[in-house]
Amino acid sequence: MFEKVSPLPPDPLLGIMAAYAADPNPNKVDLGVGVYKDEQGSTPIFPSVKMAEAHLIESQKTKVYVGPAGSPEFNRLLPELIFAGAGSALKENRVAAVQTPGGCGALRVAAEFLKRLRPDATVWCSNPTWANHEPLLGDAGLKLASYPYYDKASGQILFDQMMSALESVPAEDIVLLHGCCHNPSGADLSQDQWRAVCELAKKKGFLVFIDIAYQGFGDGIDEDAFGVRLMTEQLPELVVASSCSKNFGLYRERTGSLCIVTQEAKQAAAVVTHLNKIVRGIYSMPPAHGAAIVETLLANPALKEQWIEEVAQVRNRMKSLRKAFADTMQQRLGEDRFRFIEHQQGMFSFLGISPEKVEQLQKQFSVYAAGTSRINVAGLSADNLDYVADAVAAVLD
Ligand SMILES: Cc1ncc(COP(=O)(O)O)c(C=O)c1O
Repeated sequence: MFEKVSPLPPDPLLGIMAAYAADPNPNKVDLGVGVYKDEQGSTPIFPSVKMAEAHLIESQKTKVYVGPAGSPEFNRLLPELIFAGAGSALKENRVAAVQTPGGCGALRVAAEFLKRLRPDATVWCSNPTWANHEPLLGDAGLKLASYPYYDKASGQILFDQMMSALESVPAEDIVLLHGCCHNPSGADLSQDQWRAVCELAKKKGFLVFIDIAYQGFGDGIDEDAFGVRLMTEQLPELVVASSCSKNFGLYRERTGSLCIVTQEAKQAAAVVTHLNKIVRGIYSMPPAHGAAIVETLLANPALKEQWIEEVAQVRNRMKSLRKAFADTMQQRLGEDRFRFIEHQQGMFSFLGISPEKVEQLQKQFSVYAAGTSRINVAGLSADNLDYVADAVAAVLD
């Protein structure tokens, strides 16, 4: 039967990574890849995470199975980081939490659960959204639709258009929001905009599903959870998929969490039984190591404090790169066309240039960005910033 299988087209981002690796130009710059990079272009292990891992290796006594929901201690400590101070949900045991293989695992388990509960529901995603939302949610059988979110030409959120699209979302549907550091646009809702979306969700009755994959990379661990915490307080139910890949730098360890906020403790307890069953049918149980590191770190006040500081350094580096890029482009162009990049959050922003110009950046200057013109701001550095600015200025009209 396999003779009928023809190869799929290569993933565009993997193609860019391969072209970058093969490029002999010593000035080449990789702004395509979706991982944090430091000033030297590497993705190091946070020192606090390394220390937590060392503690763990020393103290771990068994490798016995953890069960489909993962570690109970992780399922207690990570939700505290996400929901801290958000009303009574945690105290009242109204949060069903399961450890998952990364944020992707959380998104997929949530999608499987929602599909079983509401087979005809549509999930409304921002336009644009992270490319993987489509297979992670759509392959579970949920229908997908989009609401306007971001205008590449102006670098702004299309909030009025977003709100009028959400006005017509039926109560049976689901609205997916990015908790912070929107991927790919970097454009986040303001606190007032979060409040307005929350009021609309209350009025219309649709279920809010928040994907938070960069907590701490925007304005701070607590600040970045504003939307999640507001919705937890204000709405009867909420779904939250979170990832430890970026803020703990645990990418390949596949560490994340799915939290479902319910109206009553007994509902949360029932929800966990269903999540466990779904997990059994997909991957049986999550990998333990990354979550055990996170749990070791969060349980140790000194390590946690150190980690918060290390995340702040990462965040501040990206903020200063954003400003430096906008300033340098202003000098090059004599106009402030790229100032929006300074005001956006997290790792990603669009340059807002055509695919042809993105290709020209790559071919002529060995500056690699995604075809959509999404750049990873963390790929900039003091060493390459002028070079990238010159290249971008050269390809503009
Ligand atoms: C928006 C968004 N959600 C979820 C994830 C989940 O990532 P992971 O499965 O590696 O934790 C990512 C990672 O890039 C992301 O950008």
